[in-house]
Order: sequence, then C-alpha cells, then structure tokens
Amino acid sequence: MKILIIGGNGTIGKPVTERFKEEHQVIVAGRMSGDVTVDISSSTSIEKMFKSVGMVDAVINVAGDAKWDTFNKLSEDDFYIGIRSKMMGQVNVVRIGRKYLNDGGSITLTTGILADEPVAMTTSAAMVNGAIQSFTMAVAMELERGLRINCVSADLVDAAYEKYKNYFPGNTPVPMNKIVDGYVKSVMGKNNGKIIRIRA
Ligand SMILES: NC(=O)c1ccc[n+]([C@@H]2O[C@H](COP(=O)([O-])OP(=O)(O)OC[C@H]3O[C@@H](n4cnc5c(N)ncnc54)[C@H](OP(=O)(O)O)[C@@H]3O)[C@@H](O)[C@H]2O)c1
Repeated sequence: MKILIIGGNGTIGKPVTERFKEEHQVIVAGRMSGDVTVDISSSTSIEKMFKSVGMVDAVINVAGDAKWDTFNKLSEDDFYIGIRSKMMGQVNVVRIGRKYLNDGGSITLTTGILADEPVAMTTSAAMVNGAIQSFTMAVAMELERGLRINCVSADLVDAAYEKYKNYFPGNTPVPMNKIVDGYVKSVMGKNNGKIIRIRA
C-alpha cells in the first residue's frame, strides 16, 4: 500500500510511520519536516501536498493543534486556532484527500480522550475533538468508491506522560504500541465510521 502520514514525525506519528514502513510505502508530511511539507490549516497547502504525492491507498492524519487555556482567558481568535487546524484541517484532509484515494482506500483521523473526558483548560481542544468524531460518523455514510474513514482517540500516551501528567490527574498512560495498533486497525481492517478508542 502507498500510505500518506501527515504528522508522521510527531510523538505518535513517528512510531505509526515506523510500523507501517515495515510492510508499506510510506510518505511523511509535516509542517517543517517530512517527504512533503503541508500546513493542514490551509486548504491550498493540502491541495498542493496531494498534487505532489499523487494517488494513495490510505491517508493517516496525526497532526492538528488547538489552544489550551482556561475558558476565562480563551478569546474568540484562540478558539479559531483549533477550528482551523485540528477541526477544519482534518475535514479538509478528507474533503480534498478523498479525490486522491484509490478505490477501497481509507482515511484515519486523530482525536483524543478529551472528547469523552475533558480536563481543565480544554474547552477548545475537547470541542474540536468532539466535532471530528461526529464528522467521522456522518461522512462515513457518504463516502463513495468503497472509501472508509475512522478516527483514533487515544488517552495520554506513555511517551508524553511526564510532559502532560499534571494536566491529566489519574489518567493511566497508554503504551505507544497499543495506540499504533489503533491506526493499524483502522487502515488494515474493515471498520468504517468508527471512533477507535484506545485506553490503558
Ligand atoms: N500525545 C498524546 O498523548 C496524545 C493522546 C491522544 C491524542 N493525541 C493527539 O494526537 C495528535 C498528535 O499528537 P502528538 O503528541 O504526536 O503531537 P506532536 O508530537 O506535536 O506531533 C505533531 C506532528 O504534526 C505535525 N503538525 C502539527 N501541526 C501541523 C499542521 N498544521 N500541518 C501539518 N502538520 C502539522 C508536526 O509537524 P512539524 O513538527 O513539522 O510541525 C508534528 O510532526 C494530536 O492531534 C493530539 O491531540 C495525542
């Protein structure tokens, strides 16, 4: 399979890339690094990336930002960071990317535990995660040519535990391998429109 992994050099993206590279041709996209560069908050940039990569069998997106702060401090513009990047960025990867998928191909998006169990300072991040999960279930009903879509929603990964543990009191970190398995399940399995929840 030819697989495009957007964010394939990140904390989760890198081990996902390494796993798929064992058996597939992988192209990594990132804002600053990778085989191709892209900023998913710009649909022009997404279109340019797909034009240069060409047809693929699977797209995995493990990229997207949202601003974390207390609800009191988040401005309207702060909310638009997550809306433009993690929300519309992923919607546009699907909107544009489906034209570059071979019949029977798949798209895998990334959300996270915040959609189900938000913690303090995540009104924006939780909101866009929830939006992408609803989008995934809805758009799965309309994709054509046997295309599938799922999203992977993991709890805090063990590799980022030290950095984020104070934001997630009591969350049990998930082994990276288990999260990578979620992406494999989405791409290699038959699931469609599913939220693949990965918890410890
Ligand atoms: N870490 C966790 O415990 C965890 C748990 C559940 C869900 N998640 C979710 O998983 C995703 C990845 O998390 P992570 O911890 O792996 O993040 P990360 O280490 O910051 O990596 C993010 C990757 O995405 C790329 N990227 C960021 N913004 C981009 C943009 N606008 N356009 C294109 N590429 C962009 C970055 O590329 P450059 O470096 O080139 O900018 C980087 O390779 C996020 O959506 C996060 O919310 C994370």
